[in-house]
Amino acid sequence: MTDTLTGCHVSVNGESRSFSGPLHSNALDWLRAQGLTGAKEGCAEGECGACSILVARPGAAGDPADRTRWTAINACLTPAAALAGQEVVTAEGLGSPDDLHPVQDAMALRGGSQCGYCTPGFICSMAAEFYRPGRCEAAEGHPGDEEHGPNGFDLHALSGNLCRCTGYRPIRDAAYGLPAPAADDPLAARRAAAAPTPEPTDLASGGARFLRPAGLDDALRLLAEEDSAALVAGSTDWGVDVNLKGRRAPLVIAIDQLPELRELRWDAEAVEIGAALTLSEVERGLDGRVSLLAQVFPQFASRLIRNAATLGGNLGTGSPIGDTPPALLALDARLVLSSQSGERTVPVTEYFTGYRQSVRRPDELIRAVRLPLPLAPVTAFHKIAKRRFDDISSVAVAFALTIDDGVVSRAAIGLGGVAATPIRATATEQALIGRPWTPETVRDAADVLRGEGTPMDDHRASSRYRSAMLGRSLEKLLAENPAAAHAGEEMS
Ligand SMILES: Cc1cc2nc3c(=O)[nH]c(=O)nc-3n(C[C@H](O)[C@H](O)[C@H](O)COP(=O)(O)OP(=O)(O)OC[C@H]3O[C@@H](n4cnc5c(N)ncnc54)[C@H](O)[C@@H]3O)c2cc1C
Ligand code: FES
Ligand code: FES
Repeated sequence: MTDTLTGCHVSVNGESRSFSGPLHSNALDWLRAQGLTGAKEGCAEGECGACSILVARPGAAGDPADRTRWTAINACLTPAAALAGQEVVTAEGLGSPDDLHPVQDAMALRGGSQCGYCTPGFICSMAAEFYRPGRCEAAEGHPGDEEHGPNGFDLHALSGNLCRCTGYRPIRDAAYGLPAPAADDPLAARRAAAAPTPEPTDLASGGARFLRPAGLDDALRLLAEEDSAALVAGSTDWGVDVNLKGRRAPLVIAIDQLPELRELRWDAEAVEIGAALTLSEVERGLDGRVSLLAQVFPQFASRLIRNAATLGGNLGTGSPIGDTPPALLALDARLVLSSQSGERTVPVTEYFTGYRQSVRRPDELIRAVRLPLPLAPVTAFHKIAKRRFDDISSVAVAFALTIDDGVVSRAAIGLGGVAATPIRATATEQALIGRPWTPETVRDAADVLRGEGTPMDDHRASSRYRSAMLGRSLEKLLAENPAAAHAGEEMS
């Protein structure tokens, strides 16, 4: 057994480097061991962004497949082995003290850095947005708003980066002062060619093995042979467990690049979303056409996390406080589970069986999520958390209602954070269906909603607070959709 993993290379700042180190190393530790100490460890759990790096990602879900998108991710959560064959750029690769990158120059000019600990991470997240295709074109003629600069810079790009001493205004000033990339900018030019294709990988060291299968069949065979294998997609949950809980798996199977899990398709009956598309890719691919999910994405963690996190992973953890399960419950989603014996489709309402338990067998993985069409016209996602961005919910409520001529004809409500599993608020749905969409109906149904689930007291919220928030959520939905209520009043 050896700690040196030969034959496995990654391009870092244009230079090919081979892996060495324990197999459970994350990309941050590996880069720092290479002497690239710009990226820092602040938290090792995806919260601070001090470890942000850029990776060359392929076009997906609506992006041209033959183009590259520079994507910022948390290096502390990414297994180093997952970068085999990939292209990485760190803050050192963007510019040097004698030849600053435009982002570094803007941060220096606007006073965006004091102690500098967070700065390389901010630089990488900012550079990803600097190179975002269409940023400047979309900004033409728009003065910007509270979350976008006049140069089209989307401040959400920095939602996963924390700074403890500078204050955010100079950092925002730097972001909003960025020009378009110059015509001879090499990383801008790099976008016009395809990203590296995923490299099938099989690494073993210190009793551990990391495998990136070439396709779904290989992944399913491995899963059938080794039921203690850990499936890893974006690693935003798995990476935290490795770093903070010391979890080690004898076999890790990387499924994030499996082509069969990375398709987004519409047909007459459903939209099918590949389980290994990142949430950022799904957000771009759907482009607002599933309004409930469009409301979930900006509230889910940060851009850095969404650039890696997947729907499969959010369901795979079985967490009762995941953000997408309440929305998928309200959308009547079906999960496509694959194994060597074939595929089966399970309604998400039947998927969760207990705390972090599900009907998924150890030899199965989630290949895709199907959302039946047509979609309900009145939707909302209310996430109650201590912070607006980058926080886990205390309670999450997802609504999908159809209101015909002022009367609720269909209601589906998904809840998170009020039971051992995400649940449907079936009693409340029954209290709404067939009744006019009026303040009286909502008042009655809100009473029912307050009694749904079995909310508990914990460090995030008390059970009384959680119940109260459920009722307020329905009242808020009415306030957000007053036109439908007026139609109801005229009817009643
Ligand atoms: C800082 C931070 C903030 C976060 N904020 C939020 C938040 O706001 N809302 C929220 O809901 N979550 C949040 N999370 C949790 C996490 O980002 C999500 O659960 C995410 O969707 C996990 O996806 P992943 O691809 O990274 O999963 P991974 O970490 O790769 O895997 C997680 C689990 O799912 C399993 N799995 C992965 N893919 C599949 C598949 N296709 N089939 C079967 N099993 C699979 C894995 O085996 C593993 O057990 C946050 C995490 C961090 C670190
Ligand atoms: S070290 Fe804090 S997000 Fe990675
Ligand atoms: S400059 Fe000190 S933490 Fe940001």
